[in-house]
Amino acid sequence: MKKQDIFILAIESSCDDTGAAILKGNTVLSNVIANQEVHAKYGGVVPELASRAHQQNIVPVVQQALEKANVDKKQLSAIAFTRGPGLMGSLLVGTSFAKSLALALNIPLVDVNHMQAHILAHFIKDDNNKIPSFPFICLTISGGHTQIVLVKDYFDMEILGETIDDAVGEAFDKSAKILGLPYPGGPLIDKYAQKGNPKAFRFSKPKVEGLNFSFSGLKTGILYFIQKSLKESPNFIEENLHDICASIQHTIVEILMDKLKTAVKQTDIKQIAIAGGVSANSEIRKQLELAQKHWNWKTYIPKFEYTTDNAAMIGITGYLKYLQDYKAPSSVSAKARLKVTE
Ligand code: KG4
Ligand code: ZN
Repeated sequence: MKKQDIFILAIESSCDDTGAAILKGNTVLSNVIANQEVHAKYGGVVPELASRAHQQNIVPVVQQALEKANVDKKQLSAIAFTRGPGLMGSLLVGTSFAKSLALALNIPLVDVNHMQAHILAHFIKDDNNKIPSFPFICLTISGGHTQIVLVKDYFDMEILGETIDDAVGEAFDKSAKILGLPYPGGPLIDKYAQKGNPKAFRFSKPKVEGLNFSFSGLKTGILYFIQKSLKESPNFIEENLHDICASIQHTIVEILMDKLKTAVKQTDIKQIAIAGGVSANSEIRKQLELAQKHWNWKTYIPKFEYTTDNAAMIGITGYLKYLQDYKAPSSVSAKARLKVTE
């Protein structure tokens, strides 16, 4: 079969977004996502509400993906789905759905590691996009993970460093919560930071060995700073929101860039990609563009829609596995904990 005749239906349900995508070869025909508003008022994802919403959303989301792509179920070559890591109740909805549909259509099933998929999203073919060659370094930054990964081949990866406590997305979201902003606060910090002075307030950066990260101390530092400032001036947050957000964002991005510089020194690899929800952040994007100019790095920044959780990234990973003749065993099951190297 020619690569362009391969149609993959991909399903993503690891956390709070239900996604379905159709790929034709390495191009995306549709990429549908249903966000779950239900969690905002709880200040974080409530696992039981997430799995129920996935159950409500999955059939309409898949139907929409097929319709938008103008593809019939009978044309599908394989079904790819997120096996893990993620919330067990959420993963089970996508896994059961994918297994049943593959069985009904009598086509192969391909399980996908969500963390590999964030990285492999760079191999989606778009108009004029740059595709990294091996080896490259990927900084995966999301609500659940912060890792520097050496990518030697599609499915040959090595973790060079990772967070020892909170993920960078949590650092954004928890800081936002301290400021009274709704969940997820990362994009809001980014928005308010646009008009703020990044040097207005200083927060101390953690000292962590090698290429590992730590963000819990920063969160505590921000909390104490805000509590102290509110005692002195009750309207401190409202009066300084833009500057506070810009300063928090500046500190977090500096921590990330410092580690990337160390990784480049250690490996002598200057091809740098970013992946995961936090790579939507405008400051990290700006800093990487500057690094490309000043230090001759070759940087790869995914299209906005492929940064946060989406099914297209599951589809490209499923496609790459399918090309290697991979088929999931019929006993395949969801796995809440799964390393990028598994
Ligand atoms: O990859 P993702 O969609 O889900 C996980 O697998 O975790 O990442 C979600 C995270 C959240 O913490 C969210 O606040 C953060 O990405 N995020 C951002 C921005 N957009 C999303 N953080 C900072 N700036 C942004 N523009
Ligand atoms: Zn993710």
